[in-house]
Amino acid sequence: MSSPSPVRVAVIGAGLMGREVASAFGRWFALLDCPVRPELVAVCDVNAAALDWFRQVPGVRHFDTDHRTLLARPDIDVVYVAVPHHLHEQIYLDVLRAGKDLLAEKPFGIDLAAARRVRDEAARLGRFVRVSSEFPFLPGVQRVLAAFRPGNAEPQLGKILSLRSSFLHSSDLDPTKPINWKRQVRFCGEAGVMNDLGLHVTHVPLRLGWRPVRLYAQLQKIYTERPDGKGGRAPCDTWDNATLHCTVDLPDQPGVPLTLETKRMSPTDTNSWEIEVLGTDGGLRYSTKQPKTLWTYERGKEQSWSATDLGFATPFKTITGGIFEPGFPDILQQMWAAYLAERAGQLGDRFACATPDEAVTQHELWAAALQSHATQSVVTLP
Ligand SMILES: NC(=O)c1ccc[n+]([C@@H]2O[C@H](COP(=O)([O-])OP(=O)(O)OC[C@H]3O[C@@H](n4cnc5c(N)ncnc54)[C@H](O)[C@@H]3O)[C@@H](O)[C@H]2O)c1
Repeated sequence: MSSPSPVRVAVIGAGLMGREVASAFGRWFALLDCPVRPELVAVCDVNAAALDWFRQVPGVRHFDTDHRTLLARPDIDVVYVAVPHHLHEQIYLDVLRAGKDLLAEKPFGIDLAAARRVRDEAARLGRFVRVSSEFPFLPGVQRVLAAFRPGNAEPQLGKILSLRSSFLHSSDLDPTKPINWKRQVRFCGEAGVMNDLGLHVTHVPLRLGWRPVRLYAQLQKIYTERPDGKGGRAPCDTWDNATLHCTVDLPDQPGVPLTLETKRMSPTDTNSWEIEVLGTDGGLRYSTKQPKTLWTYERGKEQSWSATDLGFATPFKTITGGIFEPGFPDILQQMWAAYLAERAGQLGDRFACATPDEAVTQHELWAAALQSHATQSVVTLP
């Protein structure tokens, strides 16, 4: 294997996701065929205390509480931004205008107008930008994607009856859980749970060409206030659950139902990412509830699903034994490998990270969903 060239990465936002990136890079040697090696060199957070965790990470040389001084450094190639949603647009634009490439966190700006501005500025400046969405890098999801490659016969699906893509959480069922920025419109955005979880349910459908032409949305706010963590109460004004009933026109089959679900209140689901395809001749179902199991059916006399045990068949090869099970840290590392390989023009035919155009389309769906809910009507998409 040729010696991978290091790409110098900075993280802005040293919270939950910022730390995950340091972890993914810290065991990059687990990857066998990624042509690019990242080096985490700089970290920024307005909360100086959050930087301390990174002092144990080898290679991190710059610690900053102002992203503008961090971006002025010449020794940074790529910036990962993981901050609250209301800050996305400004910081993404600052990254691009500083001449750096960007791996953005979802939802790629707080709303549709912001997403379009960031996409257009990236195109104008010629910067390489992708948006974070890691679940498609799971082997089970890769198998679902493979079923739609031309010439693939695993299984034969026949006419498509329905499509479903879901991302389901349950922690908000606890009314004593204190408020945080993801539960407040001014930080999370008007689209609420769709902003927070939505790219996870649209990345695969959009990549497969399941672009909704119409939708009807059911949005729910369940608890309207929460403990503020200081002994009082605070308004909790975001949408908690969103179910979008969409219509997709497939090339040879118009009018296919696609359900997109993002829920913070889904009993029994901690972090369930699911996809299901039901056809007249066969079907596929995958859920992170059973991370190594791909469910398939083929039409026959008896009605049943078959479970296939999957191994560690990730897009990039690893040292990990083929029979073992992958998890969240593994797919995050795979996503970064895809980002860096695509940036270097060496992704090949592997699955690629979500694009700015896909992120903008995601926001078009959320805008239509808000309109649908407000008017209680079906909305046609452009
Ligand atoms: N891809 C995924 O699976 C996934 C999972 C969780 C969160 N996210 C996304 O990651 C982003 C961050 O979420 P999180 O859960 O890590 O949040 P978090 O609250 O844990 O961390 C956010 C950090 O940003 C810092 N920050 C705030 N303003 C800043 C500024 N101006 N400059 C620098 N730092 C600033 C905060 O101090 C905090 O440490 C969000 O966009 C969220 O939607 C993605």
